[in-house]
Amino acid sequence: MGPYDTMKLAIAVTNAGGFGMVSHPEPGEEAVAHLISGEIKPEEAFESVKQELRETIETVKEEANGHLGLNFRVAPEQPEVPELLDMVIEMRNSDNELREKLIFLLTSAGDPSQVHLKKIKENGMLWFHNVPSAYHAQKAQKAGVDGLIATGYEAGGHVAYHPVHTMVLVPAVTEKASVPVLAGGGICDGKGLVATLSLGAVGIYMGTRFIVTEESDFSQRSKKAIVSSGERYEKVTATLVTEGSLPDQWFVDI
Ligand SMILES: Cc1cc2nc3c(=O)[nH]c(=O)nc-3n(C[C@H](O)[C@H](O)[C@H](O)COP(=O)(O)O)c2cc1C
Repeated sequence: MGPYDTMKLAIAVTNAGGFGMVSHPEPGEEAVAHLISGEIKPEEAFESVKQELRETIETVKEEANGHLGLNFRVAPEQPEVPELLDMVIEMRNSDNELREKLIFLLTSAGDPSQVHLKKIKENGMLWFHNVPSAYHAQKAQKAGVDGLIATGYEAGGHVAYHPVHTMVLVPAVTEKASVPVLAGGGICDGKGLVATLSLGAVGIYMGTRFIVTEESDFSQRSKKAIVSSGERYEKVTATLVTEGSLPDQWFVDI
């Protein structure tokens, strides 16, 4: 759930028996402010992102009692990913304990056939790609992924352009896929899990529900808005969830 730091949450999820995911690493709010004001250069911001990711990975290794994964968005807007990926691979390759814990890399929001992504599997990590359609699922399979996450339009964060909902998307993907498929988007409990298993998924992937946990570093304002929202499309919820990847002070009161 970039740009929020989900390290604490990921460790808690893994330690509770789930599979925790560390967000795409990004410059913190302070670094963004300094970038905007010209006080630091993009190269310096990138160095701080690298350093932060390194520290996150070290902490995860120390505090998690099981497996977890890392997300990289692989859009053209993220030119730093190849270098970050090399760093992760180097850290894993030189540390047995880390290799046993940080086993999974989820790519999203971009083209899975980019050549440098082949390194994920070549270096022994499990590679899943997040897809919003059966077309994209085929493309990801062709690129060689181990599995897919089919994420419907109900999901928080940046969603696909086409509003294909989870109930429609998941069977469309599972019917054609030859790799395991996890379902995401609007799932927040056991009922959602059972529903998506019946659509052919092998498990679920949840974001928004975890925002409202104690271990999540999201603001109280975001948490309250989610807890108090209903099932209807309400602008305040859509803003907080769909554009939830913006720092809190960028939210506009409605
Ligand atoms: C605030 C927020 C930020 C997100 N940022 C990312 C991201 O950086 N990369 C990504 O692959 N997915 C991102 N997502 C999507 C989640 O990974 C996941 O697909 C989604 O939360 C699942 O649907 P749900 O929110 O209904 O549980 C984000 C979701 C939220 C709520």
